[in-house]
Amino acid sequence: MLEKDILKVLVSREEIKEIAVKLGNQLTEDYKDTEPLVIGLLNGCVPFIGVLLGEIDLYLDIAFMDVSSYHGGTQTTGEVKILMDLQIPVTDRDIIIVEDIVDSGRTLKLVTELLYFRGAKSVKVVTLLDKPLGREVEFVPEYVGVTIPKEFVVGFGLDYEDKYRNLPYVGVLKPEVYNK
Ligand code: PRP
Repeated sequence: MLEKDILKVLVSREEIKEIAVKLGNQLTEDYKDTEPLVIGLLNGCVPFIGVLLGEIDLYLDIAFMDVSSYHGGTQTTGEVKILMDLQIPVTDRDIIIVEDIVDSGRTLKLVTELLYFRGAKSVKVVTLLDKPLGREVEFVPEYVGVTIPKEFVVGFGLDYEDKYRNLPYVGVLKPEVYNK
């Protein structure tokens, strides 16, 4: 049903699995002497954090925040809101934020600054997708699965009007779907 709305597959299921293995191995190595706090940003992080966590061989903690900037459309509004905050302190923690995409950079810049303000020791970002041509503020994620062009993508956590997050790959939506 969902597939008929997809113009092309950008990152396949198999590629996502390979990315998770590669980034998981890197994180296991880079954080080997620590017990990091892995923070997923809801809702987009859910499928990716699910596959990534199993590839990180460390003692770690998991927490979630809900931060929203898009409000369902295809364009960022420039406004970032904290809809659900962390329930635990971050003081002196090494934090790994897991995201589906870095686009304008506003969400990750704000969350990173907030966590440092609250006393985090280090904050790094792992993202399945990076869209550097979408940047409106300077932000460079430390761990990137795939760099993508400036296209509107859905699937594997990414939504259009809250749908398509459950597509098992990342694809480009047919323009007629959002030009309706
Ligand atoms: C998406 C995505 C990132 C953010 C990236 O979240 O999951 O958090 O936008 O965009 P930016 O770099 O332009 O800030 P969204 O706000 O759509 O919420 P969602 O995760 O619930 O889809």
